[in-house]
Amino acid sequence: MTDAEDIFAFTSNPIGKEFLSWEPHENLERTQGFVHFLQENYNSGEPVQWGIELVEENRIIGITGFIDYLPGHNRSEIAFIMSPDYEGMGYMTEANTAVMQYGFETVGLHRIQAKAEVGNVGSQKVLEKIGMEKEGLLKHYLFQKGAYRDYYLYSKLSH
Ligand SMILES: CC(C)(COP(=O)(O)OP(=O)(O)OC[C@H]1O[C@@H](n2cnc3c(N)ncnc32)[C@H](O)[C@@H]1OP(=O)(O)O)[C@@H](O)C(=O)NCCC(=O)NCCS
Repeated sequence: MTDAEDIFAFTSNPIGKEFLSWEPHENLERTQGFVHFLQENYNSGEPVQWGIELVEENRIIGITGFIDYLPGHNRSEIAFIMSPDYEGMGYMTEANTAVMQYGFETVGLHRIQAKAEVGNVGSQKVLEKIGMEKEGLLKHYLFQKGAYRDYYLYSKLSH
């Protein structure tokens, strides 16, 4: 919870975040609620999202990890966000490489998937750099900010 202010600094910042499926956090309480949600799931033993800490600055600069964990199918999805101040430095690729390894080796997942909006080139690059394969197009998958949005579905299997 002591990291909530660091997280709020980028979850409240709409710059470059036109592809997010959620609205920017309007106040710190909203971010604290999000951290509380992660803590509850973490405590129940589920693979969840983590903060990405830039160790030399002792600061949380992004979030990545698992959403929609389906233990019966050994499947989960990754979702992520990086602070605009730290984009393009390779941090999300580095963090997601560790997340994928944790998912396959520690959680025992068979399939890890991700969705990226068609125009979200940065997200697609990250997914391709961590070895995900583009499976296809999900047409008009979400109704967001007044329009139906197309998403690419990506995945990587354990073998
Ligand atoms: C997409 C996002 C996570 C990338 O994080 P990042 O830490 O900048 O990623 P990396 O530095 O590891 O970059 C990986 C590659 O993507 C490229 N890239 C990153 N952002 C980009 C952008 N907006 N447009 C084009 N390329 C981009 C980088 O240049 C790098 O390519 P390279 O290795 O050929 O130079 C970040 O821009 C973000 O948080 N975006 C908003 C939230 C979002 O879209 N989340 C994903 C929802 S699926």
